[in-house]
Amino acid sequence: MNKLRLRLLKILHDNKGQYISGEDISNRLRVSRTAIWKHIKILRDNGYNIDSRSKCGYTLLKVPDKIIPEEILLDLPTEYIGQNIRLFERIDSTNKKAKILAEKGIEKGAIVIAEEQCEGKGRLGREWYSPPGTGLWFSLILKPDFKPDKAPFLTIVASLAVVDVLGKYKLNPEIKWPNDILLADKKVCGILSEMSAELDRINYAIIGIGINVNQKVFPDYLKNTATSVRINFGDRINRNVFLKKLLISFAYYYDLLLTEERKKLLSIWEKKLNLLNKNIKIKSRGASCRGRAIGVSEKGELLVKTQDGLKSFWAGDATLHQK
Ligand code: BTN
Repeated sequence: MNKLRLRLLKILHDNKGQYISGEDISNRLRVSRTAIWKHIKILRDNGYNIDSRSKCGYTLLKVPDKIIPEEILLDLPTEYIGQNIRLFERIDSTNKKAKILAEKGIEKGAIVIAEEQCEGKGRLGREWYSPPGTGLWFSLILKPDFKPDKAPFLTIVASLAVVDVLGKYKLNPEIKWPNDILLADKKVCGILSEMSAELDRINYAIIGIGINVNQKVFPDYLKNTATSVRINFGDRINRNVFLKKLLISFAYYYDLLLTEERKKLLSIWEKKLNLLNKNIKIKSRGASCRGRAIGVSEKGELLVKTQDGLKSFWAGDATLHQK
């Protein structure tokens, strides 16, 4: 979006609920009233509902229900997380696209986001259902300056950020290890982290986050296991606002990770894990075992007390198991 239009948008947002005169806007932006009118028209053509009244001026009534990078970028206080947004109407997978852009050298913190994914990727080779206009399907590109063995912490950072934002909507999410976010026992968000690394350094990491935001219904094969923020919150959610909050939270936890506050991260994460102190069945690398989840290690692994002693897991599929 053109810089002038972005500044106009900010004035309209800052004055929401009241009219601001064309003269006032043109003085602030140092352009003619005709130029203001032209940009108001473009915003309206893009779905913004802006009312105008003679002698009163303009007021913003409604932002379109679309992902709009400018809405996310307005006053986004992060240093670099989310400051470069690449939006696609329809794409195979934002993780795939993010990888291509990372290989080409896009800067750290950039995000790739799509209104719809036609080949959304889930963990363990599964498909991720990503219908148009309802969810947040995006991938964050990072270039952390630490060794690849710390990479699982990136997923922890992402899950804590999602949990934080859901809490801001008065919801009470849980984390199903390793990285599913649940609301009322159904999955609302999945995270797929991928990376390109050498033995001692990460070239880049892609944190793919899929959040069911505004779906009211799910296809049959998902309806018993999936849910959306809207279903739990009871009302439509503004996805731009949600994503902005998420980027701010992500930057906060990522900073904890970069400043070696891993213990703090882990203790917050542990408290949100739904399997803790429960009997579980865990499948990892083709093998399965049963035991009691008793905590997380300093490296972020799940610690499971089994008949054969204490075992630790980086990743896998864990389910509750009644003894
Ligand atoms: C899971 O299986 O729980 C992980 C799902 C991750 C889905 C997100 S949506 C955005 C990004 N692009 C993808 O293709 N997948 C991730």
